[in-house]
Amino acid sequence: MTAKKMNQLREKIYLQGKGKGYKFVSYVSSKATVFNNEIGENCFILEDNTIQPFTKIGNNVVLWSGNHIGHHGEIKDHVFFTSHVVMSGHCIIEPYCFFGVNATIRDYSHLAKGTLLAMGASLTKQMTDEWSVYVGNPAKKLEGKVSHKMY
Ligand SMILES: CC(C)(COP(=O)(O)OP(=O)(O)OC[C@H]1O[C@@H](n2cnc3c(N)ncnc32)[C@H](O)[C@@H]1OP(=O)(O)O)[C@@H](O)C(=O)NCCC(=O)NCCS
Repeated sequence: MTAKKMNQLREKIYLQGKGKGYKFVSYVSSKATVFNNEIGENCFILEDNTIQPFTKIGNNVVLWSGNHIGHHGEIKDHVFFTSHVVMSGHCIIEPYCFFGVNATIRDYSHLAKGTLLAMGASLTKQMTDEWSVYVGNPAKKLEGKVSHKMY
């Protein structure tokens, strides 16, 4: 499934399955680089992701290809990284966040739930507002909440 409605469709189907008693596994590509990280269930971690040491991943997280996930971080549930995103060290990503291709996150950042970081955006501030869109370099918050037709 895609990240539509900021991952809330994926969350709904996942929770429906759990409610019916299904068990969920996670897929971690043999071509990803991992360091014995704690990874939850129903995660999809594709090729060329690097998840550095001491970083924890929650449930129902998608890391498409080629992301750099820095050390001592935490990615919570229902988050979607597209491709070639750089999450620096010591970051906390709250649920439902979405990262466009080539987005960059400064170290020690704490992203609020439902943050959409646009493709190519460079987040230099270390905090975001819930359900908000950040665009550009340095990334600026767009007016209004996430209402994008796609996400
Ligand atoms: C931020 C985003 C959600 C906005 O999408 P949107 O609302 O459909 O925006 P539009 O394409 O209508 O563009 C509106 C304006 O913003 C600009 N814009 C769009 N995305 C931008 C971005 N990432 N950075 C800078 N400007 C951007 C457009 O050039 C356009 O400018 P204009 O008004 O001067 O013509 C989208 O651009 C984005 O980043 N999506 C993620 C894409 C992605 O990573 N896909 C991976 C799929 S695997």
